[in-house]
Amino acid sequence: MATLNELNQEIARCLLCEIAKQRTNTVPGEGPEDAELMFIGEAPGWHEDQQGRPFVGPAGHYLDQLLASIGLARRQVFIANVIKCRPPDNRDPLPMEIQNCQKWLDHQIDIIKPRMIVTLGRYSMAKFFPGKSISKIHGSAVRRDNTIYFAMYHPAAALHQQSLRQAIEADMKKIPTVLAEAKSLPEAEAGTQQLSMF
Ligand code: URA
Repeated sequence: MATLNELNQEIARCLLCEIAKQRTNTVPGEGPEDAELMFIGEAPGWHEDQQGRPFVGPAGHYLDQLLASIGLARRQVFIANVIKCRPPDNRDPLPMEIQNCQKWLDHQIDIIKPRMIVTLGRYSMAKFFPGKSISKIHGSAVRRDNTIYFAMYHPAAALHQQSLRQAIEADMKKIPTVLAEAKSLPEAEAGTQQLSMF
């Protein structure tokens, strides 16, 4: 299996979408190859495109604060996005872009094998919780095989809306308990289980 570095080089050469022509940098994601916790956002914005790093603009600073609220630094977790190039004018990612980019995210997950995947916003939620509504499922955990999936609002949305801000801050505080509980459970039978603690 490729390493994350090798994968990043492949991502940097990807030209599957039109938006590849306009990028300054691809933004594959960053963090330890053996991270237990993986956060998945939507798409790079202007700052991310400039730096080639995920969540380094205002939403990223807020994500750093949220992580600090549970005693984590960003270097301890893996942070990625559903798509790896910036959509122009920060428009929403197109279905075709999500589809073209899916193999990169899937490959990252295969390498990292996180215990827990936290989706940030509706695009990454849609990948792991198809057909669900974020207002209904945010802050609840589902175990599928041996990975826990946990949906949260997107930090950029929560930055500007007080009610979402309270929700994202409360949801973030659940993560250490969910992760600890997940690690204490016996190996799961294949399939999906709603975690019962919340
Ligand atoms: N929003 C995202 O979804 N991802 C980033 O990397 C930055 C902002």
